[in-house]
Amino acid sequence: MFQKIMLKTANVFFLVAIILLVYNILNFFGTPESILTSTNQFRRRLVSVEVNRKSIHEQDAANNTIDYVVPVEEGDQTEEKSAIFHNVSKSTQCIDKPLKKNIEQRGNYYVLYNYVMAERSVRCYESVTYSTQGDLNFLDNLVPLVERWKGPVSVSVYAPGTDFLLALRTILYLRECTSPLIKEYVSFHLFFEAKYTPKINSTPLLGNNIMEQQKYITCKMTPPHQIVSRDQQFRTKNNLLYPINVARNTARLAAQTHFILSSDMELYPSPNFIPKFLEMIAKNEELLQSDEPQVFVLPHFEVEEGYDVPMDKTTLVEMVQNRSAIFFHEHLCRRCHMVPYSYRWLNTPETDTLNVFGKTKRVGFQKSWEPFYVGTNDDPLFDERLTWEGQKNKMTQNYILCLLDYTYLILDNAFLVHRPGIKKAKVQMNEYAEIVNETSFFVKQTIKPEINSLYGTRPGCDLK
Ligand SMILES: *[C@@H]1O[C@H](CO)[C@@H](O)[C@H](O)[C@H]1NC(C)=O
Ligand SMILES: *[C@@H]1O[C@H](CO)[C@@H](O)[C@H](O)[C@H]1NC(C)=O
Ligand SMILES: *[C@@H]1O[C@H](CO)[C@@H](O)[C@H](O)[C@H]1NC(C)=O
Ligand SMILES: *[C@@H]1O[C@H](CO)[C@@H](O)[C@H](O)[C@H]1NC(C)=O
Repeated sequence: MFQKIMLKTANVFFLVAIILLVYNILNFFGTPESILTSTNQFRRRLVSVEVNRKSIHEQDAANNTIDYVVPVEEGDQTEEKSAIFHNVSKSTQCIDKPLKKNIEQRGNYYVLYNYVMAERSVRCYESVTYSTQGDLNFLDNLVPLVERWKGPVSVSVYAPGTDFLLALRTILYLRECTSPLIKEYVSFHLFFEAKYTPKINSTPLLGNNIMEQQKYITCKMTPPHQIVSRDQQFRTKNNLLYPINVARNTARLAAQTHFILSSDMELYPSPNFIPKFLEMIAKNEELLQSDEPQVFVLPHFEVEEGYDVPMDKTTLVEMVQNRSAIFFHEHLCRRCHMVPYSYRWLNTPETDTLNVFGKTKRVGFQKSWEPFYVGTNDDPLFDERLTWEGQKNKMTQNYILCLLDYTYLILDNAFLVHRPGIKKAKVQMNEYAEIVNETSFFVKQTIKPEINSLYGTRPGCDLK
């Protein structure tokens, strides 16, 4: 009798122990708020910020992986589309890249890749990524941009100190309260100097920040980037120079697609670019078989304040003829931006397809050329020591392209148009003359010799 009772008690203890164990295990996986000790948990926090918490934890429990990856949707592919993708895949031989969060230390900066992720993940051959950058004051450009692009956008946002929270809320506001395409297509990478790592109350940056901040967003509010004026922002108050090339590189590197247009956020693309570009690549197998490396150039324009950004080349050309549009920075640096054969470009009537209209090298009149183009992540990166204020931040990369004998293929029916308002003078020349001067010197005395040691020289290529 006594023995029987002992046995029963032991069983009960055993059961309780098991229940406690199971409870603890469940609790462990269910609360990412538990103390941050290992890197694994650190990364788990980064992952768990996005909405899809349930599936993350299920995955966690099942095979202890911590990276939440947005699955690729096999959308409504028509036969024609599939044939195009097939050809692009074949001729690029590209490899898919998951859309996932991670943190990188890059020089003096921390970069939080995909801090706020697009909801749609794409295969490397099925689209073209618009890769761009800015601080929080530029983010409203994303709405007209993505409405025209209708495809993946990879954007790096410089957000040191207290600018981080403003930037994050601006992003959440744009996602909730403007075009639905923002949520669908735009992935945001936030970065800052290590010494200006932001602190948000007690919540770690890699914690549940996004969910937490979501609570403060209502669509009736003043957009967060308009609440704190530019001169009250952290970057301005601390006189921080804008590390434009850290931003350019990180946005480009985070792109999921093989083809990438690395551009400035205020440059709006001509509509339907992606399907037309992929069709061109699919139809012309020989285009990518050239031995020389190459990029595809989109001519870029400015329009007068008060005019709409033209939707097609025909309207754009009419605007150039009546002087309501001009080639980009025509008044400022003709050599830097003038597209070769520009008059032939204007005089070639618009068609439904996209084609290569002319080829050029960056020599002769073009030796200071700084075009915007579709390239890939095989192209050289931008020198991260250069800033927006100091200028010349694209020159050294284009110089390397010249040394590597890149061919610039100019597209006939595609273009970029700057947000309306024609620039008469560069801010940098007045406000940052000293930094511009120092940068010029640095490029000539330091960077150019380095590049020549690395890549050699080539007749016709120049870096001034
Ligand atoms: C582990 O995670 C992967 C996704 O990364 C999933 O496909 C797989 O089914 C999971 N394994 C198990 C045992 O659930
Ligand atoms: C795919 O490439 C083949 C040639 O390799 C070509 O005949 C075919 O038209 C291409 N398909 C599309 C949709 O461009
Ligand atoms: C210039 O051309 C555009 C496009 O046709 C038109 O909308 C605009 O009104 C014209 N402007 C002037 C000043 O003629
Ligand atoms: C630019 O720097 C050089 C020396 O590096 C100096 O001689 C020159 O006066 C400076 N020019 C301006 C406009 O500051």
